[in-house]
Amino acid sequence: MKIRQLAFGFATYIPGVSRLVYGQPTGTASARYCYSVWLRHLVMAHENGLCPAPPRVVVELGPGSSFGVGLAALLSGAEKYRALDATRIASRPRNQEVFDELVGLFRRRECIPDESEFPRVKPTPRSFAFPTQLLPDDLLRKTLDEGRLESIRASLRDVGTSGMITHAAPWVGSSLVEAGSADFVLSQAVLEYVEDLADTYQMMFTWLRPGGFVSHEIDLSSHGMTKTWDGHWSYSQLAWKLVKGRRPYFLNRQPHSTHIRLLSEAGFTLICDVRMHAEPALNREQLARPFRDLGTEDLNTRSVFVQAVKRVN
Ligand SMILES: C[S@@+](CC[C@H](N)C(=O)[O-])C[C@H]1O[C@@H](n2cnc3c(N)ncnc32)[C@H](O)[C@@H]1O
Repeated sequence: MKIRQLAFGFATYIPGVSRLVYGQPTGTASARYCYSVWLRHLVMAHENGLCPAPPRVVVELGPGSSFGVGLAALLSGAEKYRALDATRIASRPRNQEVFDELVGLFRRRECIPDESEFPRVKPTPRSFAFPTQLLPDDLLRKTLDEGRLESIRASLRDVGTSGMITHAAPWVGSSLVEAGSADFVLSQAVLEYVEDLADTYQMMFTWLRPGGFVSHEIDLSSHGMTKTWDGHWSYSQLAWKLVKGRRPYFLNRQPHSTHIRLLSEAGFTLICDVRMHAEPALNREQLARPFRDLGTEDLNTRSVFVQAVKRVN
């Protein structure tokens, strides 16, 4: 397995090979996935007392194949959506299609698609019923009004650096999100790839208004790259660099405790930390040196869902 991964790492230097993997559609190519992901984050935030009403300005890191999660946020009452990705993946036709499907899902007040449809998607709210208490009919009448839908469509046709929907990829160094302007920063299956995690958590803190919050689902596993879910921790730093090759982004291999520490150092108060546990498949001697001293909790944590609020000093 290691030899196959190393060979693929070398192959990424051949033009076009890296795109074979990174050009594959991500979950957000599906409108039902986007609807499910958005409502799960929103409902969890509501359950955790973070958002009595839908947020106004939503920032998403790593939207992938479409802006569907943000479009679902706009259909829930948000006024602005900022999409920040590492590379340009979302396409205009896909966004239009996903948007039209999302409108239907909200009109029908469909239940949140659950594990029978998306077995690997987390977080898991207490209920998958449509959240009518958070998105009541009188609110949806306004958010699904034909005139408003038309202005979202117009914004989708002209996504730039200002307006209702804005996009930057790569976003590092861009000033797309004004300091103190955001209510809600979210990501799904993204922070396990971010190279400069400390800076990224710091940026989230800067973007949020006081009392604003973050919501992240992070898959800490090897994403099937190794035989066991924790096999990525058996590669030395050098071997991992070679496996990465020229891919534009790659698993950063950071464990649960790093995310919790960086959130706190950036100035967040942790509100929710839902860990999915898994038995370690490797023993400590099989792990590469940087991971041998990980705590038991880290070695048993395969994914995590965190929500944290910007501390006000
Ligand atoms: C597995 S895909 C997930 C996409 C989408 N959130 C979903 O659920 O389908 C990982 C995404 O993370 C993005 N990504 C990687 N590094 C990033 C970074 N530093 N900042 C923002 N996005 C990043 C990639 O471009 C890609 O869109």
